[in-house]
Amino acid sequence: MPVATAVKANLERSSWIRRMFEDGRALKAEFGEENVYDFSLGNPDLEPPKAFLDALKDAVGSPEQGMHAYMPNAGFPSARAAMAEKISSEHGVAASAEDVILTVGAAGALNVVLKTVLNPGDEVVVIRPYFAEYGFYISNHGGVMRTVDAAPDFSLDPGAVAAALGPQTAAVIINTPNNPSGRVYDRPSLEKLAAVLTAHGQACGRAPYLILDEPYRDIVYDGLAAPPVIDAYPESIVVSSFSKTLSIPGERLGYVGVNPAIADKALLMAGLTMANRILGFVNAPALVQRAAAASWKARADVARYERRRTMLAGVLRIAQIEHAKPEGAFYLFCKVPEGGPASAGGRDVAFAMHLKGFHILAVPGEGFGYPGWFRLSYCVPERTIEDSAVAWAEAVRNWRSI
Ligand SMILES: Cc1ncc(COP(=O)(O)O)c(C=O)c1O
Repeated sequence: MPVATAVKANLERSSWIRRMFEDGRALKAEFGEENVYDFSLGNPDLEPPKAFLDALKDAVGSPEQGMHAYMPNAGFPSARAAMAEKISSEHGVAASAEDVILTVGAAGALNVVLKTVLNPGDEVVVIRPYFAEYGFYISNHGGVMRTVDAAPDFSLDPGAVAAALGPQTAAVIINTPNNPSGRVYDRPSLEKLAAVLTAHGQACGRAPYLILDEPYRDIVYDGLAAPPVIDAYPESIVVSSFSKTLSIPGERLGYVGVNPAIADKALLMAGLTMANRILGFVNAPALVQRAAAASWKARADVARYERRRTMLAGVLRIAQIEHAKPEGAFYLFCKVPEGGPASAGGRDVAFAMHLKGFHILAVPGEGFGYPGWFRLSYCVPERTIEDSAVAWAEAVRNWRSI
């Protein structure tokens, strides 16, 4: 066999993603891009802010020697210091450059953290519905994913996390603002989670790490602000990136920051830095580190996402599709409407296939460990949302009549 058994199993597990992507391409080739309503990918379509582009030009034009050379594996000291300032302002801690490493996106950051902290068979608790890649990342490093449910309104349920903790628990990953539910966890629930983890650590002698994955921190709506998290629990690690807030996912820049009070910090930071190297990333891309260090306070035009959210929610209301309350990120997580054919597979997969007949692309909830629901990304032009309204209404009417 040309690929390892585990890789083959992963390919099979994620085959619906490839199928969705390939079917979408085929539909666009046959009917034209403008006649296909593709809500499948969370690929930010806004341009980066001018401050970032200017800083990037400055970095490219800099006469300084060694702009494109290797650097310390943890990143440029100036970029680490800028990220420490960012983390301190967002999380109410006094982080310094030594508490941060620059990574290849949040995806790279998560792999670096898991590589550093997991022993074979260690469990990592994640909250369902979850970002589909978590399962792959955890198994990359010999861990076992253990899922617990979010509350019915998709808020954080600290009691459910408490029930899943055991001596094998190495870490808990939370993602807020959440992909796919759009939920922003509130401070009281985060404090309860911190208390649960502290009590568990005291009782069993192993305090699990809290890994906060927050690439959508700045994409929040209705005047909401994502609360600080890592100040509530010393053994916490924040992972984030500029993919969404500066709208530069292709440039692959992220970071890991640890709570300055985390236990055995020097060893942990040495481990993270080494993992960055030996996973083959070596260091985060040099020019973009410089540019983001100079422009991290800028934002892509997040207000546009908020308008799109309201537009898409309006379209779904008319089509009578229920969805979770979207407080942040750029997804609507929706319930498969009643009706539809009896099918051997999940109803969410059947509904996504049905939607394709109306040129609408959506991702079944199965991919997020949450069958019966589906995810729509509104990183699409306003026009796509407007033009899709008739197709949505027809698709649902037709589904109910089957
Ligand atoms: C919840 C979540 N975590 C991590 C990532 C990885 O982002 P990055 O592009 O920074 O690697 C994504 C990307 O969509 C995401 O949705």
